[in-house]
Amino acid sequence: MMDQKQFDKIRAVFERSGVALTLVDMSLPEQPLVLANPAFLGLTGYTEGQVLGLNCRFLQCDDDNTATRAEIRAALAAGREAQVILRNHRADGSPFDNLLFLHPVGGRPGAPEYFLGSQFELGHCKAGVGAVIGHTDQLSRELSRIGAVSEHMEMGSRRQLAEMAAALVRAWESRR
Ligand code: FNR
Repeated sequence: MMDQKQFDKIRAVFERSGVALTLVDMSLPEQPLVLANPAFLGLTGYTEGQVLGLNCRFLQCDDDNTATRAEIRAALAAGREAQVILRNHRADGSPFDNLLFLHPVGGRPGAPEYFLGSQFELGHCKAGVGAVIGHTDQLSRELSRIGAVSEHMEMGSRRQLAEMAAALVRAWESRR
């Protein structure tokens, strides 16, 4: 079990980060949000009090994300990282396409105690491949700060995350 000190460290990293970050408790049946940082609240337009305790699917409203949701459930059940694109809605109802990064945190391999989610809004001006690589670089740094990956994350796996995200963005752009 993660101790309070480690949890507080994650909270401190979240507070300072420029990328949207959320933490979900995987030990609870509804997989609720236990942390949502200022960048996430800025992106979605919700307050912390409105989102903590909810499963993050509330952002989908009644969008049909059937295949993507199945992909997410499989990754969560296996305790492995994933990157997917989901249609979401802000508090004011406006839609956006969310490139979501999921990473296991704490617990045992295959059975993480938490999952970290990072949200990147596709489609707003300057949010092309360059911006998503900036996002994955910062996300990789935050993951190593909280110890979710070995202290000095292999350059290889950092690059792999950037390449995966860039490929998803290109595929998304070509569908528009
Ligand atoms: C999520 N989920 C999620 N979904 C979404 O639409 N927008 C989001 O930003 C997030 N963020 C997020 C972060 C973390 C850490 C986790 C673990 C999950 C996915 C959502 O909560 C849920 O897992 C998926 O919708 C699949 O499950 P259902 O809805 O098919 O039961």
